[in-house]
Amino acid sequence: MVKPRPVRLSWLIKSGRLSELSPTALISEKLGIRWLMMFDEYIYGPGPGIIEALDLILKHVKPKSFLDLFGGSGALSKLAYIRGARKITYVDLYPEAAILNLKRTIKIEIIKADAMNFLRFGQHDVVVADPPREMIDELLKRIGDLRKIFRKVCLIWIGDVDELEKRSFFFRNRRMMEIVRAWGDCFAVLWKPGFKDIVKHVKEILEYS
Ligand SMILES: C[S@@+](CC[C@H](N)C(=O)[O-])C[C@H]1O[C@@H](n2cnc3c(N)ncnc32)[C@H](O)[C@@H]1O
Repeated sequence: MVKPRPVRLSWLIKSGRLSELSPTALISEKLGIRWLMMFDEYIYGPGPGIIEALDLILKHVKPKSFLDLFGGSGALSKLAYIRGARKITYVDLYPEAAILNLKRTIKIEIIKADAMNFLRFGQHDVVVADPPREMIDELLKRIGDLRKIFRKVCLIWIGDVDELEKRSFFFRNRRMMEIVRAWGDCFAVLWKPGFKDIVKHVKEILEYS
């Protein structure tokens, strides 16, 4: 693999690698995210499902602290800042684009590290985890540990709608958790006592409105 590198959103659009009307481009522009990481020819950036699900959670939960695991471009951290979180921690193995996007605009702790060591990063009101597809199963095996690092709600990307069935055994008999679908993606939403109604309400908005 060529070393991952930060590239400008404007260059991706100009060179025809990304449509200016793609959800990733539109969301990035709206949030002021100008750099994305490029891995070989693959680009990681914010998707519509995780952005909408997280935005609804942030608006209802109003967290003071926020942890962005596998943070990529930093778009989810920026969204949390816009929604009022002030203690924001970002973790990724390749934070170069996030540093360019966020360092001068918001107060944030950017940590270059393996996000699977999440027990090291303290407890936060809201946690989001947007892992690469190949790490979803590894992360889901550690749902018990993930419960230790959030105080209110935790949102985890668990793959496309058509992959849900194959992961269903992870979720059998789980309490204080809901599976939520948005824009073709699926998410596990974990909550602590007092936040069940908010999660149910967010699910209703995303799936039925
Ligand atoms: C789906 S992308 C996240 C996109 C991000 N939410 C955004 O808005 O740009 C997955 C991210 O996981 C990162 N990554 C892969 N393995 C990792 C690991 N073990 N620890 C931390 N980050 C990792 C990649 O660098 C990539 O940024």
